[in-house]
Amino acid sequence: MGHRHPQVVQAVKDQLDRYMHLMVYGELVQSPQVRLAEALSQTLPDPLSSAFLVNSGSEAIEGALKLAKRYTGRPNLVSCYQAYHGSSHGALSVSGSENFKQGYRPLLPGVSHIRFNTPEDFSQIDERTAAVVVETVQGEAGVQVADDNYFRALRQHCDKVGALLILDEIQAGFGRTGTFWAFESYNIVPDILVTAKGMGGGMPIGAFISSPEIMSVLKNNPILGHISTFGGHPVSAAASLATLRVIQEENLLAQVPAKAEFIKQQLTHPAIRRIRHRGLMMAVEFDSFDVLKPIIDRAIELGVLTDWFLYCDNSMRVAPPLTIQESELEEACAIILQAIDEVV
Ligand SMILES: Cc1ncc(COP(=O)(O)O)c(C=O)c1O
Repeated sequence: MGHRHPQVVQAVKDQLDRYMHLMVYGELVQSPQVRLAEALSQTLPDPLSSAFLVNSGSEAIEGALKLAKRYTGRPNLVSCYQAYHGSSHGALSVSGSENFKQGYRPLLPGVSHIRFNTPEDFSQIDERTAAVVVETVQGEAGVQVADDNYFRALRQHCDKVGALLILDEIQAGFGRTGTFWAFESYNIVPDILVTAKGMGGGMPIGAFISSPEIMSVLKNNPILGHISTFGGHPVSAAASLATLRVIQEENLLAQVPAKAEFIKQQLTHPAIRRIRHRGLMMAVEFDSFDVLKPIIDRAIELGVLTDWFLYCDNSMRVAPPLTIQESELEEACAIILQAIDEVV
């Protein structure tokens, strides 16, 4: 949404003037949460109509993992190498970088990894697998996009062995890839969908979303088996609903392909090896970190905030707000090119 989108700011102010916090474990139904959950379910296919609101991406992953184990009664989880799902113990366990995990063992037992976009590895997903958790577009691996038929094949395999499919759209969700949810373009429906980050329009919130049937197992035995004091904070929920409405009302999804194309056309330079992207989730690849790092530093000095990726340090992260205008894109790309010219 960019910084301080007026509709998001107004929604926050309005909610601040109503109330900020109430009793937390479902004693009181809170309308900002209910309205957001309803709007989320309207963006989603059946049966994804039940949202559990939390505070962050990692927490949403934790909830999704617990839900899958509880629903299936199975012990194991499968995720991808090069995946990033967060920094808490469970989310770190299913992340795919040994470098980030090695200092924190023992992590969750029963976790194994497969290669992203590699159906040959599906044999590791079996009758003891509670869930497979995958980013619909791998973010920290440097924007890795799966082949068209990968997710359909994964869906079919999960159905065959009875494992749940959890899609992490914490980076890809809420329109970044050009559809509201990235999985829409793969013609599949996950069992559990996870979202956060851009969902809040600048405020902290996350969610794991599933069918009422799957979600209902959290209701009892034990009652209050998954709870969070600030999860779905009313001010954040109001900001998130405003964000969702802005995406719809400003027709931002339809503009994503043209904006992405414009960036690709502008960012041509002999030092740029290639651009990987799905919509406005982009990675601009250079020869090495040594080439890229001073370019990033210079771009920041010149006024464009960018970054590299946790597991892909030769690529620049380009992730503009969906609201960005062509003139702003032109200016930003000119600054990146200037930084490249000055450094290379
Ligand atoms: C794909 C993905 N999953 C999970 C997370 C964790 O989210 P959070 O930082 O809100 O805990 C991130 C954060 O970068 C992410 O990119």
